[in-house]
Amino acid sequence: MAYAIPEPYGWNESFRMFYASIDDEHKGLFKSVFDVAADPSSAHALSHCYDVMDIHFSHEEAILQRANYTDILYNEHKKAHDNFMNRLGGLKSPVSADAVAYLKNWLVRHIKTIDFKYRGFVNC
Ligand SMILES: [Fe+2]
Ligand SMILES: [Fe+2]
Repeated sequence: MAYAIPEPYGWNESFRMFYASIDDEHKGLFKSVFDVAADPSSAHALSHCYDVMDIHFSHEEAILQRANYTDILYNEHKKAHDNFMNRLGGLKSPVSADAVAYLKNWLVRHIKTIDFKYRGFVNC
């Protein structure tokens, strides 16, 4: 299934998780990818994107662990984060158009598939 990529790139209501802290972090993730797309040659934008993703994923994984999210779903979720961070960590500025498209697509798809699975199932 294809997911619409918002243009201009940014968070919108279709991504709402109904957890204020998670939604705020997701807004920051979109902004960080927007900033990489706006200036692919900026090493600062790329490292900021890496940092906010890293912080968010750690937060999300801690929430899932506290909630006793099933091992299978937790492992699937963590693996998705780890794979993405490997790819993101391997990028160098200037970031290619293909890599920018990957970042944009991955975040949209991840929230709407993997993150949405825990929507309503955890307290945070
Ligand atoms: Fe996630
Ligand atoms: Fe998330």
